[in-house]
Amino acid sequence: MSDPKLIPDPPAGKEELAPGAILRRGFLDRAAQAAMADALRDVAAEAPLLRPVTAWGRPMSVRMTAAGRLGWVIERGRYAYSPRHPETGRRWPPIPEPVLAVWRAVSGWPEPPDCCLVNWYGEGARMGLHRDADEGEAAFAAPVVSISLGDPARFRIGGTERRGPTRSTILRSGDVLAMGGASRLAYHGVDRILFGEGDLLPGGGRLNLTLRVVRA
Ligand code: SIN
Ligand code: FE2
Repeated sequence: MSDPKLIPDPPAGKEELAPGAILRRGFLDRAAQAAMADALRDVAAEAPLLRPVTAWGRPMSVRMTAAGRLGWVIERGRYAYSPRHPETGRRWPPIPEPVLAVWRAVSGWPEPPDCCLVNWYGEGARMGLHRDADEGEAAFAAPVVSISLGDPARFRIGGTERRGPTRSTILRSGDVLAMGGASRLAYHGVDRILFGEGDLLPGGGRLNLTLRVVRA
């Protein structure tokens, strides 16, 4: 495994991965990342991480929870936004303020997001190519804002055709990606994480937050 310290991080700044997909590398400094990770530990204590089972009956390798008015869940094989945690039956905890601050800074949207989906990637976890398309037509004018914490990930993004061309990049801790405009319904996924190469989260792993407006 390569020593992450020998690989310089690319400079902070804006990069357009695809039309409307704006990546801000190094948006959060180390202290902000640590504070956000702490706030997410509290979220997961209130709303335990789940391993959703897909419509094909296979458990996902990513574990999930949520904060906000709604959480994204799979209920009996169907994708849905639910106001309650499927196991505890309780409402989701509020979205932590530092997360809302990122949304305000980069979304260009006048209202707060309805859902902060929390994805936890342990060793070997990945996420197949998919679109975030369960939020309802009226929500597609708002971007999906993604925040990465912990180990780096190889992230892939294409266009709105499942079999269209894609490109990949490494998302690192503190990077913020807004998928809006022509990329709001773009296919994207995580090929793999570079487990143990980050040093934010003790024991390794990656947290990804996606902030969504939901009008379903
Ligand atoms: C997602 O598409 O829900 C997660 C993307 C990521 O983990 O970077
Ligand atoms: Fe997604």
